[in-house]
Amino acid sequence: MSKLKIRVDQDKCQGHARCKSLAPELFELDDYGNAHEIGDGTVPDGLEDKAWLAQTNCPEIAIEVTEE
Ligand code: F3S
Repeated sequence: MSKLKIRVDQDKCQGHARCKSLAPELFELDDYGNAHEIGDGTVPDGLEDKAWLAQTNCPEIAIEVTEE
């Protein structure tokens, strides 16, 4: 089964924090309010829908979701 991986593009993220609200298991905010993927960005089983939800809800299109 393929795994999803997320990555936040730091050049695009403007700190809207919708990702963190929608998927706190996958994103954390730094001191500037910008989001980072937790760990190496691998999405744990069962959280795939949240990864896509966060991606589609980021106003800056800063979240990349890839399948490995
Ligand atoms: Fe940044 Fe988008 Fe989240 S702008 S804080 S990645 S909703």
